[in-house]
Amino acid sequence: PYTPLRRITPSELSTHGARKNETKTYWTVLEGRVYDMTPYLPYHPGGEKELLRVAGKDGTKLFNLTHSWVNWENMLRGCEVGILVSENEGSK
Ligand code: HEM
Repeated sequence: PYTPLRRITPSELSTHGARKNETKTYWTVLEGRVYDMTPYLPYHPGGEKELLRVAGKDGTKLFNLTHSWVNWENMLRGCEVGILVSENEGSK
């Protein structure tokens, strides 16, 4: 009765970056969890360009430097893709 979290490796994450991205979806990591930011891009008060700086990589540091008070857990609840694992622990 539950869906296990999908395990995502750094190399899969990197295919969802700002450049050379054939997936056309943009992922980032906050506190070890992977989020698809694509639906949120047009709504970010800081603009799309700032969000794309963390596409395909861990955004935790930059996020907290900019606005540690923002409740990303609630905001991105429906956008969670899975959890970041090390390269040899992926789901596929
Ligand atoms: C503003 C969300 C990532 C840069 C904001 C605000 C929210 C938000 C809710 C308004 C905050 C307020 O007015 O108190 C998010 C979410 C992120 C994210 C959910 C991750 C998915 C980033 C990143 C940067 C960034 C990585 C890179 C530097 C900014 C800036 C503002 C802002 C510069 C200020 C805009 C202004 O008030 O003119 N963001 N943010 N954000 N964000 Fe983000």
